[in-house]
Amino acid sequence: MQAQQTGCFSALSQVEAYICAGQKHSETLDIFERIRKQRGPLGQHSKESHGYFTFPKLEGELGPHMTFRGKPVLVWSLNNYLGLANHPDIRKVDAEAAAQWGMAYPMGARMMSGQTKYHEQLEQELAAFMDKEDAFLLNYGYQGCMSAIEALVGRHDVIVYDSECHACMVDGVRLHNGKRFVFQHNDMESFEKMLRHAKRVTDETGGGILVLTEGVFGMAGDQGKLKEIVSYKKEFGFRLFVDDAHGFGSIGKNGRGAAEYQGVQDGVDVYFGTFAKAMATVGAFVASEAHVIEYLRYNMRSQTFAKALPMPIVIGALKRLDMIRTQPELQDRLWEVARALQGGLVDAGFDIGRTNSVVTPVFLKGSLGEATNVTLELREKFGIFCSIVVYPVVPKDVIMLRLIPTVVHSMEDVRYTIDAFKQVRERLEAGDYKADRIADWASSKASAASE
Ligand SMILES: Cc1ncc(COP(=O)(O)O)c(C=O)c1O
Repeated sequence: MQAQQTGCFSALSQVEAYICAGQKHSETLDIFERIRKQRGPLGQHSKESHGYFTFPKLEGELGPHMTFRGKPVLVWSLNNYLGLANHPDIRKVDAEAAAQWGMAYPMGARMMSGQTKYHEQLEQELAAFMDKEDAFLLNYGYQGCMSAIEALVGRHDVIVYDSECHACMVDGVRLHNGKRFVFQHNDMESFEKMLRHAKRVTDETGGGILVLTEGVFGMAGDQGKLKEIVSYKKEFGFRLFVDDAHGFGSIGKNGRGAAEYQGVQDGVDVYFGTFAKAMATVGAFVASEAHVIEYLRYNMRSQTFAKALPMPIVIGALKRLDMIRTQPELQDRLWEVARALQGGLVDAGFDIGRTNSVVTPVFLKGSLGEATNVTLELREKFGIFCSIVVYPVVPKDVIMLRLIPTVVHSMEDVRYTIDAFKQVRERLEAGDYKADRIADWASSKASAASE
């Protein structure tokens, strides 16, 4: 089956859809008028949710105990896996680098005037850490990942990708001029079927196949089936690109991510990692064979035509990488907290799905209204701040609460949270949170508390 996005109407704006249908309109539609009415899948709720469920302001020092709307909260929403966000040694290095270099240096894109020996050093260290021949730094993971995918494929090539790939990969697929096929999430039967479709196309075009998946899927915490996927390489001759944003630093014997954990590091042809999670900064990288990185260095539009990462980010990333490399106890502690959290939730009868990483989803049954009431109660009564995920990411009657354990959470935090979740589940099952609309936090005590 072809991906949804390739249909004429599905991913196009209404204006383009009119053109597709060959309809004529005497007046040009005013784009601003259209977006006043069509506010997008998340934007449609912005008036009720802004400032509380969306765009909340977490204040205070980054960590498990912060302040939300003037009240202390126990935070489970930050991908600060290794606790580096607020580590004193890291903050010292960041501050010294900022004082020495400022935020501007180097000016310009790497190719023109933004190259430094520190950028090169970081690339060499990342490549060595990942056991790849070379690496290329990316300024921001999202556009870097998207742009790397776009650069790797030509119009005769075919992309085969997992249906739950992160938006940055999906956007990379959208930039691709050739065919693409989507397989059902982690379903190897569906994967093989799509590979066969892809092969039929490349037999005609003479192109190649690029497979995209994630190392650790950041929403539900299940790992991509890298080992199984790699086993199809021999028959289909594809190249494998893995976005391991959540796996880098948090999983694998040496923190090298999901492929290391599954023992198939060599089977990953292009490895993508971001600095925005375990490294707790900004930026990202791709690692691969030397000639592939050389090609990407000269062909990734997002890097060729954009400013290089500022020096404090690069110096700070070198320090973070050094800590991941030399302090394996950080990962041990992360898993200690994660196991306590996941084990405790399972013992208490919670459904945590198929996670096999530290990302911890909790699945409950309920409507959007109930999901927001559950969140309100967790934040206001128990002072627990976690993310809610609702339809269309999960089915309509499912509430997913996502907990991200970190090195800096305590066992007491874990116990307190499981106990609060038990109390909230009891009330949810008793129907106490029933509502047909988003919780009115503005006129609840949530609002009063911050005044
Ligand atoms: C799986 C995945 N890939 C890529 C990204 C984008 O990374 P960055 O925040 O560095 O732009 C994210 C961040 O949310 C992610 O979760």
